[in-house]
Amino acid sequence: MPALDARELIVGVTGSIAAYKAVYLVRELTRAGARITVCLTANARHFVGPLTFRTLTGRPVLEDLFDPASDAAVEHVALAERADAMVVAPATANLLAKAAHGIADDALTTLLLAARCPVLLAPAMDGGMWHHPAVAANVALLRQRGVTVLEPESGALASGLTGTGRLPEVDVIVEALAGLVAPARDLAGDHVLVTAGPTREAIDPVRYITNRSSGKMGYRIAEAARRRGADVTLVSGPTTIAPPSGLRFVAVESAEEMRTAVLAHLDQATVVIKAAAVADYRAKEVATAKIKGKRELTLELTPNPDILAEVAARKTGAFIVGFAAETHDVARHAREKLEAKGVDLLVANDISQPGIGFDAEDNEVLFVDRWGGAQVLPRTSKAAVADAILTQVLRLRAAARRGVRP
Ligand code: PMT
Repeated sequence: MPALDARELIVGVTGSIAAYKAVYLVRELTRAGARITVCLTANARHFVGPLTFRTLTGRPVLEDLFDPASDAAVEHVALAERADAMVVAPATANLLAKAAHGIADDALTTLLLAARCPVLLAPAMDGGMWHHPAVAANVALLRQRGVTVLEPESGALASGLTGTGRLPEVDVIVEALAGLVAPARDLAGDHVLVTAGPTREAIDPVRYITNRSSGKMGYRIAEAARRRGADVTLVSGPTTIAPPSGLRFVAVESAEEMRTAVLAHLDQATVVIKAAAVADYRAKEVATAKIKGKRELTLELTPNPDILAEVAARKTGAFIVGFAAETHDVARHAREKLEAKGVDLLVANDISQPGIGFDAEDNEVLFVDRWGGAQVLPRTSKAAVADAILTQVLRLRAAARRGVRP
């Protein structure tokens, strides 16, 4: 059973036939030790009643912000602010649309807007609705904002048809939620140095060489580490993501600049996580004026410094995590890279797979560690991958300090 002991959770339920499964979800979360406040939409009440949830949770159910008899209604903002996580299961297409566009016209959507904690949405709807471009755009927008939206499951739907749209199983929702609710500040006292995004290698004042990294993976790691109590430095190549608050942010452009920034913060770091996609090469000579003409042009490239290998070679005592972006033989290349770069943990992703890796909201990774361990994390949000990486770091480091095999 995932550790949700004493965690403060809000469970939202919307109007879908799958609403009855929310009863099982709340029961499982209660068994896991969570303290739960349930919020029902008006449509959810057509499918399942507040008394059931009140009995399971021992708390009033929030239904109407304007109900003077309800304490929960009065303190809804405080409730949202102190929650460790919020889950909506089932989440209808209507709820996804309101959440994506910041509409707060009932208790549940108001809580979603007020929440400062990780949010998990577990959709359930007809297959045609799930694949509708409007729903897909809303899901993409929510994921871009860091909300975890689970993929619905395939099977028989309430419409009588078979397709994708079933509410994920209760244990899948509980696992995902546990991944989002970080164990209380377990990185307090650590200084986590994270790199993110691509680097840009100038060719002339106009042009540069770069790659497809959006920075999302690294930013999610930095945010998760900050949430878990670490002092965080994020060294980022150029991205379109706003710098997260509550951490030291260092913007760089080229691999050389990234190297300088990383080395400048290395002494304080207890954990280094290199999620950046550093350009392997740069132009041997950068033209000072714009290169003109239509003649054939040969660009001479020279290798960039391998920042990760250099950091690992310095043996500062920090726990070193590298990434590997691979297109084939992922496990073999990951093991080779782990050894070649001398890191403690390598996080490999198969960037040939659609929907994960570069510029995706999700990732699927293989953890390979220097003690011989290997573990696959199936496709999930980058926020959940980030927490899983930090959990691996703590687990491996604790075993290494005790002198036992992890
Ligand atoms: O940014 P996103 O859009 O969210 O995408 C995430 C990601 C795909 C970029 C990320 O998950 C990832 O795989 N990052 C590493 C990409 C990469 O450069 O992989 P690599 O196999 O080429 O490099 C291996 C490791 O060495 C990496 O930790 C890299 O940061 C580091 N490296 C590489 C070259 C170099 N000159 N210096 C380095 O430090």
